[in-house]
Amino acid sequence: MINLLFGVILLGSSCYVSAEKQTYIVHMSHHHIPPSFNQDHTHWFDSSLKSVSPSAEMIYTYQNVIHGFSTRLTAQEAESLETLPGIISVLPELKYELHTTRTPEFLGLDQKSNLFPQSDGESDVVIGVLDTGVWPESKSFDDTGMGPAPSAWNGACEAGTNFTVSNCNRKLIGARFFAKGYEATLGPIDETKESRSPRDDDGHGTHTSTTTGGSVVAGANLLGYAPGSARGMASRARIAVYKVCWIGGCFSSDILAAMEKAITDNVNVLSLSLGGGTADYYRDSVAIGAFAAMEKGILVSCSAGNAGPTSYSLSNVSPWITTVGAGTLDRDFPAYVSLGNGRNYSGVSLYKGPTLPDKMLPFVYAGNASNSTSGALCMPGTLLPDKVKGKIVLCDRGVNARVQKGSVVKEAGGVGMVLTNTAANGEELVADAHMLPATTVGQKEGDEIRKYVISDSAPTAGILFQGTKLGIQPSPVVASFSSRGPNTITPEILKPDIIAPGVNILAGWSGAVGPTGLPDDTRRVEFNIISGTSMSCPHVSGLAALLKAARPEWSPAAIRSALMTTAYTAYKNGKIIEDLATGKPSTPFDHGAGHVDPVSAVNPGLVYDLTADDYFDFLCALNYTPAQIQVVTKRNTTCDTTKSYSIGNLNYPSFAVVVSSDSTGKTGSTVVKHTRTLTNVGPASTYKVTTFSDSKGVQMSVVPNTLTFSKVNEKQSYTVTFTVGDMAAGSNAFGRIEWSDGKYVVGSPVAVSW
Ligand SMILES: *[C@@H]1O[C@H](CO)[C@@H](O)[C@H](O)[C@H]1NC(C)=O
Ligand SMILES: *[C@@H]1O[C@H](CO)[C@@H](O)[C@H](O)[C@H]1NC(C)=O
Ligand SMILES: *[C@@H]1O[C@H](CO)[C@@H](O)[C@H](O)[C@H]1NC(C)=O
Ligand SMILES: *[C@@H]1O[C@H](CO)[C@@H](O)[C@H](O)[C@H]1NC(C)=O
Ligand SMILES: *[C@@H]1O[C@H](CO)[C@@H](O)[C@H](O)[C@H]1NC(C)=O
Repeated sequence: MINLLFGVILLGSSCYVSAEKQTYIVHMSHHHIPPSFNQDHTHWFDSSLKSVSPSAEMIYTYQNVIHGFSTRLTAQEAESLETLPGIISVLPELKYELHTTRTPEFLGLDQKSNLFPQSDGESDVVIGVLDTGVWPESKSFDDTGMGPAPSAWNGACEAGTNFTVSNCNRKLIGARFFAKGYEATLGPIDETKESRSPRDDDGHGTHTSTTTGGSVVAGANLLGYAPGSARGMASRARIAVYKVCWIGGCFSSDILAAMEKAITDNVNVLSLSLGGGTADYYRDSVAIGAFAAMEKGILVSCSAGNAGPTSYSLSNVSPWITTVGAGTLDRDFPAYVSLGNGRNYSGVSLYKGPTLPDKMLPFVYAGNASNSTSGALCMPGTLLPDKVKGKIVLCDRGVNARVQKGSVVKEAGGVGMVLTNTAANGEELVADAHMLPATTVGQKEGDEIRKYVISDSAPTAGILFQGTKLGIQPSPVVASFSSRGPNTITPEILKPDIIAPGVNILAGWSGAVGPTGLPDDTRRVEFNIISGTSMSCPHVSGLAALLKAARPEWSPAAIRSALMTTAYTAYKNGKIIEDLATGKPSTPFDHGAGHVDPVSAVNPGLVYDLTADDYFDFLCALNYTPAQIQVVTKRNTTCDTTKSYSIGNLNYPSFAVVVSSDSTGKTGSTVVKHTRTLTNVGPASTYKVTTFSDSKGVQMSVVPNTLTFSKVNEKQSYTVTFTVGDMAAGSNAFGRIEWSDGKYVVGSPVAVSW
């Protein structure tokens, strides 16, 4: 996890209230309410609950995202409750974790006034952000020139610790907090550490919300780095924050309550830079809440996770969610290491402050200067002051937060740090606002530096900071940390959907913490530079808001389709976008449909549309039980036993073909057919298909191979037949299907796995 900082803070949970009780989400069937309750659902919920646990209280009741409530129960009580009439399921809640200007220019949005003709509508679009809250004093929430909130807006600004109703304005139009579920498990919020209100004491939520829709702020920078205008993707859209993440994590019961409110508040886009371990859709509150949001026309954009570059490491994979991975920008923050042997290596840093004396300084490897076997990691309390005093220290990346390593070196008397990646991060360089002069180098450079420092009899080093450099090529590259496919829950749906900027992103920050988030960091900054799919998700949320403003009639699936089919997978020189983890071309399991290109997305030509009914059919194709389907969809409809449902026919803008092998391990030749329907959203035109496969073992034929659209919203279908040869289990092949009329290109990635 790249945002180790947040990972560490949010992982530390302890159950000190009660060992036996835990929070359950109880789903009930509206149809089963006995007449005696006179349609008073809350009374019915409470009465069902009290019949198994007389002292239990409901934490929240839900009407929109699910029909039911959350409560604390013992496992035995949960079991008894499940047997009562009208109860569909009683599921333990899950805990989720947070996954952390030049981006508008990098995305080509600087000329957007011409490209988004109806962008006046932008101010009617509301982006809801579920996160750690908001620092409303950030200049990114300046509402100068904005009219009153859209007439459909139904939200509120909730007061609490250090937060009043007047903290909202015409930019930040809503702010709510959800702590009841958290407090039911972990006890009351410690108000000496965090505000029991929408106020952001962490920084993450201010960063994500200002990335989606922050106003233009001239002269933004972090300690002089990345200077320029900071601007959210949809800088005229409205923002509503829903604080669901606290020091101990983000809990299902609170997330569901926040999504429930966001839906009735009338947000248009929801941005969630958080995720949990993957669970089936009927157990995953984010997936369940997102289904209800999708039905109301709200696009839900989520981070893919920071568990890359391992395969099968994605979160938030349901097909009604837009799943966003991370790429780099063309901006860097070089800081060079020079060694006593005359070698010079490039690294990155956001350090600001007194620099090192202009001479070579003694250099030591932390692994040779600690009393611990994992001493090279610079864990707190492990460095021996007499070995590091006055020296530059080489530390290995991993386990504890990168910025904390710098603090540890400083505390032990070190004067500087060279932080080196190990195999886990390869050549991925994430810059940090270290507390002492420090730079981060890639694994290859680090290996050479380490060799020097442990073999030389009197090693020396120096660090040279060079500020901000633009025009870095190649860019983007897929970040190593960005979570990768295949999709663990439904391998037939390709995820992630898309990648967007997520490395070294400048956006607004909380005034309650320094840029490193460390307790001993007393610096305060208006903007901070952090990395993670947490940062790429709000880019896509903001771009979805721009599309919603330009094309108000589009469904969430149409908006996602436009973003995906116009995404690019190659640089201008034709080479495929690189994967930082391998230095090789990335694949659809790394980048999905490719890197987002908002300027093309507003005019995609054709879209793959989807409705809630299509997703219902998808759940039938998964062979979900009626109860599981009802939990996700709230629908009391059964699958049609005479219909043949197919996951592969979900009208998704990408293709994932899974070939299973027989008992001999051989797959033989397999034929798989996927049908898709395109909707014309451009002028009348005739499109022709081209296919590309990187493997002789995969042949694609498309029927028909020409589609003619004579009017807007006309639909045409086609079928792709994949003829797939015999390959070893575990191998993959990739390809692409493109429809083009000479002007618009509607591209879909193809992934085949054996
Ligand atoms: C509330 O704000 C004051 C002044 O900014 C600050 O000193 C205090 O720590 C804050 N309290 C919380 C709980 O954030
Ligand atoms: C290291 O290389 C960079 C880039 O070529 C250069 O700007 C810098 O001056 C060099 N530093 C030393 C100490 O040679
Ligand atoms: C420093 O550590 C390395 C291995 O991490 C070891 O090979 C080397 O001998 C150590 N040097 C000293 C002086 O202890
Ligand atoms: C060394 O190890 C012990 C425990 O193993 C620890 O308490 C001590 O603080 C460590 N650090 C130093 C600098 O001695
Ligand atoms: C679905 O609704 C009908 C009434 O419309 C009811 O009889 C049936 O029990 C319901 N099924 C479930 C699973 O809720």
